[in-house]
Amino acid sequence: MIQRKLLSQSLKIATLIGLFSFVACSHEENAQKNTVDASTIPVTGEIEAELTSPPFVPASVGNRSAKKLIVNMEILEEEGEMTDGVKYIYWTFGGSVPGSFIRTRVGDEVEFTLKNHPENKLPHNIDLHAVTGPGGGAASSFVAPGHEVTFSFKTLNPGLYVYHCATAPVGMHIANGMYGLILVEPEGGLPKVDKEYYIMQGDFYTKGANGQPGLQPFDMQKAVDEDADYVVFNGKVGALTGDNALTAKVGETVRLFVGNGGPNLVSSFHVIGEIFDRVNVEGGSTINKNVQTTLIPSGGAAIVEFKVDVPGTFIIVDHSIFRAFNKGALGMIKVEGEDNKRLYSGKQTEGIYNPEGGSIQSMPGNNEVTAPKANSVAERIELGKQIYSQTCFACHQGEGQGIASAFPPLANSDYLNADVDRAINIVLHGKTGEITVNGDKYNSVMTAQTLSDEEVANVLTFVYNSWGNNKTEVTPTMVLKAKSSH
Ligand code: CU
Repeated sequence: MIQRKLLSQSLKIATLIGLFSFVACSHEENAQKNTVDASTIPVTGEIEAELTSPPFVPASVGNRSAKKLIVNMEILEEEGEMTDGVKYIYWTFGGSVPGSFIRTRVGDEVEFTLKNHPENKLPHNIDLHAVTGPGGGAASSFVAPGHEVTFSFKTLNPGLYVYHCATAPVGMHIANGMYGLILVEPEGGLPKVDKEYYIMQGDFYTKGANGQPGLQPFDMQKAVDEDADYVVFNGKVGALTGDNALTAKVGETVRLFVGNGGPNLVSSFHVIGEIFDRVNVEGGSTINKNVQTTLIPSGGAAIVEFKVDVPGTFIIVDHSIFRAFNKGALGMIKVEGEDNKRLYSGKQTEGIYNPEGGSIQSMPGNNEVTAPKANSVAERIELGKQIYSQTCFACHQGEGQGIASAFPPLANSDYLNADVDRAINIVLHGKTGEITVNGDKYNSVMTAQTLSDEEVANVLTFVYNSWGNNKTEVTPTMVLKAKSSH
């Protein structure tokens, strides 16, 4: 009896295993049927590839047939600006960091000509991760200044691929900006979207510390130590902020081709206030859905897509967040269009939160009780400094220098020094909309701060008495007055 029961159970298990393996087989067969051997795709005709500088990408391939695709890429070594006042000699593919975007389809035969400008100082080459062949083309493309070389490859695998220079010292060539993206679209092209952009992260290593002005040479030891001074999108601080921000309209679908040139750091790519509807993980064919943050390895890429549903400024970051607010890995997508209060209300109400119940407590009009009172300007400045370092410095930065095109400076600020009541009201109520500070336009969002009158007075007094401002003392009485006149 027991034996029969065992037998029937093992039969059931055997049947289940059989069923599973049947399912697995039919899956594999399906996958095989759908996979065309790309090496056999014929090419018809010849076209010159459109190459674009970031953040733009060439027109999609659509349903064109595979072709011979001529790519002409010029290497330029040239001085650029890492951030305000900081110069850097970039080595570039096509004059931009990242280099020109190359758009192909699977089965294309790419005839690649790499030209090393005669005024360049060094030999270079290119390793394209989309190439099946030794060195990804590096060995065939080594080229001295004033020379050009040509090699060809057939694109066998659809996906988004990094290319980079692979001339020794490889790390240094990459660290100086020699990387970009090549897209291999599948047969029939990628699904249509409204907006497409090209973003690539990179880490930079300079002799001087972050922000130290002048022409900054590459620092090999910092690069070896992976101690980056700058982590940026598209080669410089502010490449995607302010007037350079990406744009979209409410209701549009946005596709970002995101790469990471490294040379060292892995990116935790994130857009604040958006969820990626679809991500081509690692730039390959696996689609992940509903993703908050996607990892982009050094020498890797991802395609992220999302629909923008509400207007506003959406901040692009490496969510290793000090890189965003202190090293430059911060960009913006400005979305214009109608509010949709059903999807996002904005702040609806604000009240007093009283954990012990409202009836038994008498709330002070403010939290004046807990804020220590300053007895002198010096004390006020000292107390204000503490508030600044907890609340304000993430955006306005340690020395009040702000972040170019994103958050206005408080140091030497004409805007601040012109109107103290306005400054008080901004701290109390927040600020949106465009303002001009020291000749530069800013259009970001500052939220209202929940500070007592005493604290507002202290932090503003600290700011007015720092970094070349006009040494105003702001008192709680002035805060109260500004409040009532608002
Ligand atoms: Cu190089």
